[in-house]
Amino acid sequence: MIPKDTIQSILDASRIDEVVGDFVQLKKRGVNLLGLCPFHNEKTPSFTVSPAKGIYKCFGCGKAGNSVNFIMEHEKYSYPEALRFLANKYGVEIEEQEPTPEEKQADTDRESLFNLNAFAQKFYTQTLHETEEGKAIGLSYFLERGFRQDIIQKFQLGFSPTAWDAFSQHALKNGYAEKYLVDSGLTISKDGKLYDRFRERVMFPIHNLTGKVIGFGGRILSSDKTKAKYVNSPESEVYNKSKSLYGIWHARNAIVARDNCYLVEGYTDVISLHQSGIENVVASSGTSLTTEQIKLINKYTRNITILYDGDPAGLKASFRGIDMILEQGMNVKIVLFPEGEDPDSYARKHRSADVEAFITTGADDFITFKTRLLLSETNNDPIKKAGLIHEIIQSISLIPDPIIRPLYIRECAEIMGLAEQTLMNELNRVFRKRKLRGNQQEDAKTEDLPEDQTLAPPQEQVLDITDCSAQELDVIRVLLHYADKDLKFKEPGEVPGIFTESVVNVAEYICNDLRANQITFDKEEYRKIFEAFAEGVDIHQLPDEKYFLMHVDQQVADTSINIITQKYELSPGWEEMRIYVPSEADNLENAVLQTVLALMHRKLSAMVFINQKQMKELPPNSEDWADHLSRDIHLKQARNEISRKLGRILNG
Ligand code: CTP
Ligand code: MN
Repeated sequence: MIPKDTIQSILDASRIDEVVGDFVQLKKRGVNLLGLCPFHNEKTPSFTVSPAKGIYKCFGCGKAGNSVNFIMEHEKYSYPEALRFLANKYGVEIEEQEPTPEEKQADTDRESLFNLNAFAQKFYTQTLHETEEGKAIGLSYFLERGFRQDIIQKFQLGFSPTAWDAFSQHALKNGYAEKYLVDSGLTISKDGKLYDRFRERVMFPIHNLTGKVIGFGGRILSSDKTKAKYVNSPESEVYNKSKSLYGIWHARNAIVARDNCYLVEGYTDVISLHQSGIENVVASSGTSLTTEQIKLINKYTRNITILYDGDPAGLKASFRGIDMILEQGMNVKIVLFPEGEDPDSYARKHRSADVEAFITTGADDFITFKTRLLLSETNNDPIKKAGLIHEIIQSISLIPDPIIRPLYIRECAEIMGLAEQTLMNELNRVFRKRKLRGNQQEDAKTEDLPEDQTLAPPQEQVLDITDCSAQELDVIRVLLHYADKDLKFKEPGEVPGIFTESVVNVAEYICNDLRANQITFDKEEYRKIFEAFAEGVDIHQLPDEKYFLMHVDQQVADTSINIITQKYELSPGWEEMRIYVPSEADNLENAVLQTVLALMHRKLSAMVFINQKQMKELPPNSEDWADHLSRDIHLKQARNEISRKLGRILNG
């Protein structure tokens, strides 16, 4: 744990121009520096660094952040790793905070499991290369399979002895505690006896992102059908299956460099492709892909190519899982291997260049692929075809990018021989349905939308009425953009017909109004930003941009950077300080009122919803129930009041 004030010292010491300058050639341009963006390919520089604000922003790809973000993004470091890097660069000493006893125990547990797994890996590797049975059974198997020595070394492959407890005894003798042997799953304790989980199997160590061994897969060598082909480590404090991908450590640099991640099924597919020089590949290890695994890949690239080796029926079963990848905004392609071949066998039979060519030319975009496959099964039966339209549109509707969706509509319409409009109507129907579902929860009246209206993308759909984060964000955005700007309100004075003018700044208005109405923020980082402004209002000194951009709390800094740099989106010359939505700045009074009222409206809707839900659990006409009923009426009255005010603003 790095203490908060040390983080602050590191942030204070770091100079963005120097930090970026180590990796990017920067030229002076006014008060800023300009260079070629290291995060996307470009020929004309749009990567801007502002020494005054301590941040960078690329006007091409939109990436923005402070010194820590830059190092994290550029070096693929974690937050503490990036802080340590900068501390080292600027000679800031890190005095580690004394961890609590629980943290210490958790650390010790994790550390011990890492150590034990590393120890086990060395044991299995040694057994493979240096014992008679290892060489005769394990190594000869790998060599027969065509694995080269350098690849066997690179993946730290091994062999587990035939004896019942060879590893367990060896580990105990070397001082490893029984508790960790059992926790790691390497040893099984039964009736007071210890057994090795892995016996007489070739061993594939599984590494985490930083190269530490967290578990193993062991493949059987006999063709004994009663035994599982693979035995795998169970989950432990260091091995979370749904968050791990086999091969990620070996692949991560290649994934970034090639801006694509190949996804295969098994250990041997990963290894064989590496041997063919294809290194941007990970395996889901035979299970279906999880959202966490997709997010892990998403850290490095937005492009996934699935190398599929099963039959079409199996592939159809995985369509749902692929939809999940689309939902994350990633691009998915599919390569189908010839029958009976998997990436491993294909790579063994063909030259490297041919394997690469097969993958790149064979890759079909997922939606196109799905459309073709399902279409081929309809045999032009009109009813089946109608079902197909629905199926395909369901996938397209999950794509968050509204610019990409119509491209798919066009493509699929062509494949199916239908008018684009037919598919567009279906897409709108799906959105409308989703919206209705959201509104029903809100217990509001449902609007009748015209057939041809193109609706908002799915991520803007209201699904959870108790989620106020969009409205909270908008208030925070207005605070960060305009906190010190003055608002002038005309109010009727004591003499009828004469108006008095009152002036308050945006922060005063928002903070005081929300506090008076006891509105609090659900999202922690928004709450922290709001409280910083509220405090500033009280002491008549508002925090400046830099306070947020360099905040010790990483989430506060990230949120602020995203919001503040948006302000300059249309104005690459930062010094101009032009505001990106002119109409909003022109009538700041209305903009502020609107965002504050929208938040209150949403909070009240959430309260109505929760109150009604509680009410349903109560015996009707009981005292509690009556209390809830009266609260329901009051909340709705308050909400109506807000709706009226909102209506007045919106209708001018
Ligand atoms: N798998 C598993 N347990 C099994 C079978 C498979 O965990 N009983 C996982 C393994 O991660 C394996 C992947 O599913 O790598 C793919 O299975 P399969 O294609 O059967 O194995 P391969 O790795 O291709 O092994 P080989 O080529 O040696 O048959
Ligand atoms: Mn195989």
